[in-house]
Amino acid sequence: MKKFPKQFLWGAAASAPQTEGAALVDGKSATTWDKWFDMHPEKFANQIGPRDTSNTYVQYLEDVQLMEDMSLNSYRTSISWARLLPDGKTLNQKAVDFYRAYFSEMNKKGIKPIVNLFHFDMPWWLMEKGGWENRESIEAFGYYAKVAFEQFGDLVQQWTTFNEPIVPAECGYLFEFHYPAVVDFKRAVQVGYNTLMAHVKAVEQFKENKHKGQIGVVLNLTPVLSKSERFEDMKAKEAADELYIKSFLDPVVLGRISPKLIALLKDNQLLPLTQEGDKERIAQATIDFLGVNYYQPKRVQAVENPSIPALMPSDLFADYDWPDKKINPYRGWEIYPKALFDIGMRIKNDYGNIPWYVSENGMGVAEEERFMNEEGIIQDDYRIEFVQDHLLELHKAIEQGSNCFGYHMWTFIDCWSWLNGYRNRYGFYRVDIEDGFKRIPKKSSFWMKEVIRNNAILKGEN
Ligand code: GAL
Repeated sequence: MKKFPKQFLWGAAASAPQTEGAALVDGKSATTWDKWFDMHPEKFANQIGPRDTSNTYVQYLEDVQLMEDMSLNSYRTSISWARLLPDGKTLNQKAVDFYRAYFSEMNKKGIKPIVNLFHFDMPWWLMEKGGWENRESIEAFGYYAKVAFEQFGDLVQQWTTFNEPIVPAECGYLFEFHYPAVVDFKRAVQVGYNTLMAHVKAVEQFKENKHKGQIGVVLNLTPVLSKSERFEDMKAKEAADELYIKSFLDPVVLGRISPKLIALLKDNQLLPLTQEGDKERIAQATIDFLGVNYYQPKRVQAVENPSIPALMPSDLFADYDWPDKKINPYRGWEIYPKALFDIGMRIKNDYGNIPWYVSENGMGVAEEERFMNEEGIIQDDYRIEFVQDHLLELHKAIEQGSNCFGYHMWTFIDCWSWLNGYRNRYGFYRVDIEDGFKRIPKKSSFWMKEVIRNNAILKGEN
C-alpha cells in the first residue's frame, strides 16, 4: 500500500466558464467566449457554446453533495470576473450571493475551496480595449482581485490568480484556439508579460491587505523532452523549456525572469514593453504555493530550416513524434506518468521545494457512452489506470522529499472544453447534456473514493 501524507488534499478542478452555464443570466456580462460563439458558432464542436455548460449555477448544491459522496476534501473552481463585476467596476450582488452560497456549502461539508480568479474568460468590455495587450488590464485585474478577496476571504483560504496564464497568449495570439485568434509572436509575448504583471498586481493586493490564507498560481508545466542528446536537439529543448516552463515559473517562484529567456527573446526581436519598477515588483511578489497542471509531455527536436528571427515557436524547436510512446487512443495524447516524478524533483531541487500540488491531471475520452454497462455506468478502467500510474510516480517524488500537498483530477463532472465543446469527457461523473444535465457516476468515481478513504493506493487494485 502506498500511503500519502496526512491531510493530503484529494479533489478535482473545474472552472466557472466550463461549468456554470447561465452565461448571460443574473447580470453577468459577456466574455470573449460568449461573443466568439455568437460570431462563429461553427468553430465550436457540435455548435455547443459557453451558454450551455454544465449548469452548476443552478445545480451547485447537488454538485457539492456529490463531492461529499466521493469523500473529496478539496475542490478548485474559478470566479467569473464578468459575473462578479459585469462592467469592471460595479459589484453584482447576485454573483456575490451565488459564490458565497457555493463556497459556504463546500466548507460546511469539509471540502476546502481553492479559488482561482482567471480561467481564460476575458470580459468582453476589456477585450474591446485590447485585453492583456493593454496595460490597463493589469489595474483592472488588480481591482477585481481585491474585490474577490474582500467578498470571499472569510470562506476561502487558498487563492490562485491564473490558471495556465501562458495559454491565452499561446492560443489567442499564435495558434488560433482562443479569441482574438491572431498569429503574432511579438504580440503573444506582450500578452504573456502583461499577464505576469496582472498576477503580480493581484499578489500585491493580497499581501498589502494582509488577507488570511495563501496565494498562488496554477501553471501547466509541460515537461520538455528532446529527441536525442545531440547538441541541436538539446538546444531546441532548452528553448522550449525557457518558453513553456521557466517563463512563468521563474518569476513567480524565484522572483526574476530567466536571463536565458530574456536573451532568447532579444535575439529574436521579441522583447515586450516593460515599465520602470516592474522588475522590483516581480521580485517582491513571490507566491506561497504552486498548482501544477500536467497532461502530457512535449517532445522536441532541432528545426530544419528556421526563420531567423523566429516568427513562430516552431522556428525555435520542432515537435518530435516518439514512435514508442504510450498513447491515449481516444484523444491522441501521449501518456507519460514519469513526468510527475520529474516535475516533483525539479520543484524540490531548483525551486526551493515550494509547497505544490497537482492541480489538474486527467484523461479526455471521446464517445465515452461506448463503455456504458447495462446500469448506465461508464466502465472507465482506462481512467483508473491513468490515475493510478500517475499517483505512483507522484508518491515516489513525495517519498524523495518533494513538498506535494495534493492531487486534483480534471475534472469532477464532465465539462465544456472550449472549441471542443463536450467532445472529450474528463469527469468522475458523466453529465448527460440531453437529459437536464443529469449527473451519473462513472466507475472511476467509486475507485477514487476508496483511494481517498485509504489515503493510499494499492498497486494493481482495479
Ligand atoms: C487544461 C485547462 C482546462 C481543461 C483541460 C483539459 O489545459 O486548464 O480548462 O480544458 O486543459 O483539456
